[in-house]
Amino acid sequence: MVSVEVHSLVPESLLHRIDVAGGTLSGGVTSERHLSELSGCFADRDAYRAALEEGDPLVYSVVTASDDAAGSLSFGLGVIQPGRVGGEFYLTKGHYHSRREAAEVYIGLRGSGGLVLENESGSSCFVPMGVGEIVYVPGHTAHRSVNCGDEPFAYLGVYASDAGHDYAGIAEANFALVVMDGPDGPRALHRGDPRPEPRAPIEQEAGE
Ligand code: F6R
Ligand code: ZN
Repeated sequence: MVSVEVHSLVPESLLHRIDVAGGTLSGGVTSERHLSELSGCFADRDAYRAALEEGDPLVYSVVTASDDAAGSLSFGLGVIQPGRVGGEFYLTKGHYHSRREAAEVYIGLRGSGGLVLENESGSSCFVPMGVGEIVYVPGHTAHRSVNCGDEPFAYLGVYASDAGHDYAGIAEANFALVVMDGPDGPRALHRGDPRPEPRAPIEQEAGE
């Protein structure tokens, strides 16, 4: 007789709830990245050093619900705080998946931002992502998320549990594109390109 393993389906353990404003995902495990853990990520090294002298703020958190059974999916709620270093928007470290062919789906939940994508042949692009928008990250593609707004940027990433995270694969070359704040809003530039002028401060009317 063939023995078949039957998983007991418990509805409560299959349901997760996201609190977008609070940045929580039930049944998930939280990890945080502060500015000091993002060495080498921002284009302007001097601005990065100067920002660290002011403190070591939280840049982003990820709450991950994972299942390690074969063939399973994991998902993570990412929340990137608003901020800039030398005019470059706050970002995640970014990675390839260790299992290079593993793709991922990102869903925008709060704020505005996007994904910097770069494949193994060096092609790269920036895909803006707002609330209710979905970005498909194909296999063999390094991905970094960026908050282009003035409020937290929240998204859900869904990926194969055995995808794995390879940070070193992209860290050395770093992503070719940087996403900068500019007078006309966010702009994706090549790392070596001249920077746009920072956004002009809002002028106050006399007597305000
Ligand atoms: C998972 C995934 C996201 C990121 C999150 C933080 O494969 O892409 O959940 O883990 O955006 O970014 P990293 O992992 O680059 O620090
Ligand atoms: Zn990923």
